[in-house]
Amino acid sequence: MFPAYGRAMRDDPLLPSSPGFWRSPLRGTRFTSVLGLVLLVGITVLFVTGLVSYAAYNPGLSPVNDKTPDKGILGFYLFDWPTGPHWLYRLNQGVHVTLGITLIPVLLAKLWSVIPRLFALPPARSLAHALERVSLLLLVGGALFEFVTGVLNVQLDYVFPGSFYPLHFYGAWVFFAAFVAHALLKTPIALRNLRRLRQEDEGQGEDEGQGEDEEKGEDEEKDILVTPRPAEPTVSRRGALWFVGGGSLLLFATTAGQNSDALRRTALLAPHGGGDPGSGPNGFQINKTAAYAGIDAAETGEDAWRLVVTGRTGTVRLSRARLAAELPLYSAALPIACVEGWSTSDQWWRGVRLRDLAALVGYDGDPPDLFVESLQPRGAFRKAALRANQVADPRSLLALYVNGEELSPDHGYPARIIVPAAPGVLNTKWVARMTFGDL
Ligand code: HEM
Repeated sequence: MFPAYGRAMRDDPLLPSSPGFWRSPLRGTRFTSVLGLVLLVGITVLFVTGLVSYAAYNPGLSPVNDKTPDKGILGFYLFDWPTGPHWLYRLNQGVHVTLGITLIPVLLAKLWSVIPRLFALPPARSLAHALERVSLLLLVGGALFEFVTGVLNVQLDYVFPGSFYPLHFYGAWVFFAAFVAHALLKTPIALRNLRRLRQEDEGQGEDEGQGEDEEKGEDEEKDILVTPRPAEPTVSRRGALWFVGGGSLLLFATTAGQNSDALRRTALLAPHGGGDPGSGPNGFQINKTAAYAGIDAAETGEDAWRLVVTGRTGTVRLSRARLAAELPLYSAALPIACVEGWSTSDQWWRGVRLRDLAALVGYDGDPPDLFVESLQPRGAFRKAALRANQVADPRSLLALYVNGEELSPDHGYPARIIVPAAPGVLNTKWVARMTFGDL
């Protein structure tokens, strides 16, 4: 027996590896099971929406869209991103980010509930046990890594070394592999415990959460999470679960509003929430201002700016006035939806169709892919590629106006791309050059 263990059972334990060191009577497989089942659903949704978000960038189309070029077989599932429904990316990314933030209290409570096991000694009793411990390390480390990188990206525009995209993408695979293994092992246990909790609720039970988890019938094994030295309870197990749920609800209520123009002010915890995007036709959310993106106003003036469109028949240079005069203008009601989880309601964009611009340079029938370059001198997405299906959609525009007014500099004046269901970064602002052709 380990010295620390012997001391723990006799006297005040000193080390976290001593079973009696952790004294909350709330800990037990039942408490852990409820949280585990919530995470089972929530993290599966997070994983799927995360992978879908990567597909939405059309990374297979061009290296400029792909921030994780070495993904290899991890990209097996990629598909051509559709243009409908037009709110598809808005929904996907709103769910991904809002759910991720809402699950933080549940994850923390789950880790709190199993913390004695993280310190358990000896670290490995056999090869099988060692493998299990390594998988737990990947599970806990992976969970923390994914949540921390996700929150930092949303809150701080990212501070990690290296790109957020590959770190979060590879991290998700490692974490989810460990998560699946853990869920396969624990879900039956968790469901069994949930049934027992229900039975308790129906009056067959005992006092709530007071270390009763240890024995409930002959078939029940010893609960490894129950403390051998329970302290006086300060809250019931049910109360603790309400506390976790309340924390999640609070985070939800102060985050979800960043997906609606009307509720944006309620999104106090979201960087693209509470702040005032101004009023009037251009008074809706942006990610980066023209000044931040390094746009020189001298380059966007009527005399200076020319749109350079290249295709099968050569290159055309168009001033803004010629663009509006020579091509029909159309309107489309589309949102802006950012990978960081904020989105706007549908805005009324007006401009020329991308497929009409394709026709202008020799693609009369089915338009090809499109490569767009911005005036932006820096930034990861100053170039972007759009797939032929996106170019062909009649709602895909090179917008000149929004909500009945000229685009403001911050919304991409003189002209910006707007494509239904595309991630915000593919809706290039301050467009300078468009090259049509198969990529
Ligand atoms: C972010 C996700 C999760 C993390 C970080 C996590 C972490 C852990 C850890 C470290 C343990 C202690 C394991 C041991 O020492 O044997 C544990 C136990 C447990 N987990 Fe999870 N878990 C997660 C998700 C889940 C899910 C999805 C379920 C089930 C649906 C689940 C159900 C359980 C149960 C029932 C136990 C109690 C141990 C037992 O009786 O064998 N967990 N969890």
